Amino acid sequence: MTNSISPEPYKIKMVEPLRQTTREERQKLIAEAGYNVFNLRAEDIYIDLLTDSGTSTMSQFQWAALLLGDESYAGSRSFFRLKDTITNITGYPYVLPTHQGRAAENILTEMLIRPGMFVPGNMHFDTTKAHIKLKGGVPLDLVIKQGLDPEAFHPFKANIDLHRLERTLQEHGDGGIPFFLITVTCNNNGGQPVSMDNIRSAAELCRRYKVPLFFDAARFAENCYFIRKRESGYGDKEIVRIAQEMFSYGDGCVMSSKKDGLVNIGGFMAFKDHALYQRACQLAVIYEGFPTYGGMAGRDMEALSVGLQEATDVSYLSFRIEQVAYLAKRLQEEGVPIVVPPGGHAVYINARRFATHIPQSQFRGQALVVALYLEGGVRAVDLGTSMFAEEDSDTGETEYPALELVRLAVPRRVYTNTHIDVVAESVLAIYRNREQLKGLKMVYEAPVLRHFTCRFEYV
Ligand code: F0G
Repeated sequence: MTNSISPEPYKIKMVEPLRQTTREERQKLIAEAGYNVFNLRAEDIYIDLLTDSGTSTMSQFQWAALLLGDESYAGSRSFFRLKDTITNITGYPYVLPTHQGRAAENILTEMLIRPGMFVPGNMHFDTTKAHIKLKGGVPLDLVIKQGLDPEAFHPFKANIDLHRLERTLQEHGDGGIPFFLITVTCNNNGGQPVSMDNIRSAAELCRRYKVPLFFDAARFAENCYFIRKRESGYGDKEIVRIAQEMFSYGDGCVMSSKKDGLVNIGGFMAFKDHALYQRACQLAVIYEGFPTYGGMAGRDMEALSVGLQEATDVSYLSFRIEQVAYLAKRLQEEGVPIVVPPGGHAVYINARRFATHIPQSQFRGQALVVALYLEGGVRAVDLGTSMFAEEDSDTGETEYPALELVRLAVPRRVYTNTHIDVVAESVLAIYRNREQLKGLKMVYEAPVLRHFTCRFEYV
């Protein structure tokens, strides 16, 4: 096959025109945006790899399903269809829609966390971490040590360090741990998967210490694809069967449907236990809506129901994951330092090794992000100093993050392999002249979540 990758298992029925700008135009636009790609208009971007969240293309079946939406306030037919789909994939009988993933996290954390409790996981996503802290909890990341080394090769880099989990359970398990959370795949270390064997062992430990186990299932189907491909005994299993086994080890899940739900907005929680579901419903009524819509339109629940089924189709997943792997391979061929092996939804460039001549204080990840926009109209995101550096409240000194990564997140079913080639060519052009990258200084920042709105100038 062309470029030796899996071909698209679909053809294009509706197109959205893209505007191509000149380098001169982009120079002006990015300067006006204060060298922060969050401040650009999406129209001025050629290929948008800011996120894979809520950016999927829906299929003809999902668009057709929208017309079947039942917008009843209570007892909507669309809810029951969605619930049946989720129960089939997860085995969890009790389903509660939410408006997106972090809303489900809000309810789960408010329900179960008391101040001072420890909440371990392999590696919590940022919004999860924030919700845990907001409820007075202490988030703990127990990922294996290879998971934190961009260059360490491991087929399941988001696996849980079982020794650390056992120690944590011994120390705090007696009422001090509200739940254990496994994020599949793990966004924060590069979209890395967790193996079935590791999940099974972690679940056994949790059961022994009577700590409930939940999944952050945002990219569950991609995780199941990796299990099918890399773990012995799963090579000929249907993705939905692998998912059923995976979820069977847990007590429930929270999900951002904006990823493997193949829709543009939505989320849900699902539970094995009716009493927990009832408690979640009480909070849902306040924060989200009546439990049979929870912030989602009936039509969106219909599209999600179809999307969840399509996301577990192995030909879809194979194209999806191999497209990301293809981008990674093109970059690696010329020595671009990336997180290996590439994850399911994105390629993460190791900015620290890409631009060694720029000091960490001069935002080398952001410098690469700006260069990528100038080169090819491509939007990536800096997961480095601009997002994670913190000032020590005692010494006033800046604490820099251990990892400085630039994420190229690939939206689902949106870009062709030619687009991916444009991305690869743009990164490679910058890499060949990387010593010309210039550092940045931050000239405006908001007190919280500064990366969204901050402004830079060249040093
Ligand atoms: N969990 C994971 C693993 C995520 O990646 C995200 C969102 C969430 C939870 C929160 O879900 O956005 O629906 O509220 N990740 C997005 C991203 C924002 O770009 O990776 P949400």
